[in-house]
Amino acid sequence: MSLASHVQATPREMTPELGVILPAFNERGNVEPVLEALRAGVKGILYEVILVDDDSEDGTADHARSLAARFPELRVIQRINRYGLSSASIEGMMASHAPYLAVMDCDLQHDERILPAMLERLKAEHLDIVIGTRHAEGGSTGNFSVSRRAISDTGRFLSRAIYSEHVSDPMSGFFILERRFLLEVVRSLSGTGYKILLDLLASSKRPVRFGEVGYTFRNRRHGSSKLDLLVSLEYLELLLDKMLGSFLPPRFVLFCLVGFVGLLLNLSLFEFLSRALNLSLTAALAVSSVAVMTANYWMNNQFTFRKFRLRGRGFWKGLGVFYLACSIGLFANLQLANSMRQSGFKQAVAVLSGVAVGSLWNYFMSSMLVWQIQRRRRRL
Ligand code: GDD
Ligand code: MN
Repeated sequence: MSLASHVQATPREMTPELGVILPAFNERGNVEPVLEALRAGVKGILYEVILVDDDSEDGTADHARSLAARFPELRVIQRINRYGLSSASIEGMMASHAPYLAVMDCDLQHDERILPAMLERLKAEHLDIVIGTRHAEGGSTGNFSVSRRAISDTGRFLSRAIYSEHVSDPMSGFFILERRFLLEVVRSLSGTGYKILLDLLASSKRPVRFGEVGYTFRNRRHGSSKLDLLVSLEYLELLLDKMLGSFLPPRFVLFCLVGFVGLLLNLSLFEFLSRALNLSLTAALAVSSVAVMTANYWMNNQFTFRKFRLRGRGFWKGLGVFYLACSIGLFANLQLANSMRQSGFKQAVAVLSGVAVGSLWNYFMSSMLVWQIQRRRRRL
């Protein structure tokens, strides 16, 4: 039978009802156990599994493909030069053609056995989304360390800034939704970082109809959590994006924060050089400016533009361009402030306008020339 006639002959019941999306990074040891657990825990529902791997060094994607003969329900998306739990989940969901979509970690920490109950509630109560929660009846965070619980609680508290409805576990990475709801919000998603659920909820223009099902967060058996400082930073970026994204890009806010830290650094370094070391004004200013520009460059490379982070030779080349761009920015800043001052503007207004124009210039030049955002995005 040719492929075409085979496809035509596929009975309607063979179309999966549920797409289970497994974002996975360095989860080689967990893929098979998760697939087994799904088979044991999700009975009576036709489902497909889409594993979205970000080119893990441990060969997760290759390993998953090697299991395809035993698990025909599995498909693999291997993304190159991309990363992020949220964007992986979004792409996985968009790749499935099932009417209902679940997102679940690929490390057995989320309890797959509650998936049928979650789907049942979604359908019976005509909800947009059903969340697997660690903080409601029947739910628990399991053996969380004190620090992990504190991070989680702080995150939960901050989430109120962008989503005020009472969801008991807005940080959950375990939920089922109806495709219709996904399509409604998909174009407004930030897609940054870890918190895809919060992103979905906060992107809806109308109140979301949600339900919750409790479960106990299990311990990892293989591999380790990828939650780190960067992930917390990305969480702040998500909050910023949702709060002011439409008129102020979060990357620009980060850039200004780095600039502000640099300014404080510059003032204290200048004080130290001129007072303690008795350097002349010009010498102290020159040394402190170069030092702070270097520090700013490093911070921006590390945080603001980390998706486009420069390494090796590129790092040094970028530093050179950054010096140049910022010097022109500083020149423009001084010119504007001086001429405004001469035209009779108050000192504070003149200085602030100079700083604003200088920062904007530095930001756009840095994005375009140093980290080359547009060019590199097109290549991905
Ligand atoms: N494709 C892809 N790309 N997958 C990723 C990435 C990435 O950049 N980062 C993490 N993952 C995958 C991991 O392989 C794992 O399957 C899942 O996403 C969750 O990552 P963990 O590192 O295990 O997260 P966690 O256990 O600390 O926290 C999880 O559970 C919490 C409770 O529900 C996350 O889902 C949190 O968002 C959630 O709050
Ligand atoms: Mn985990």
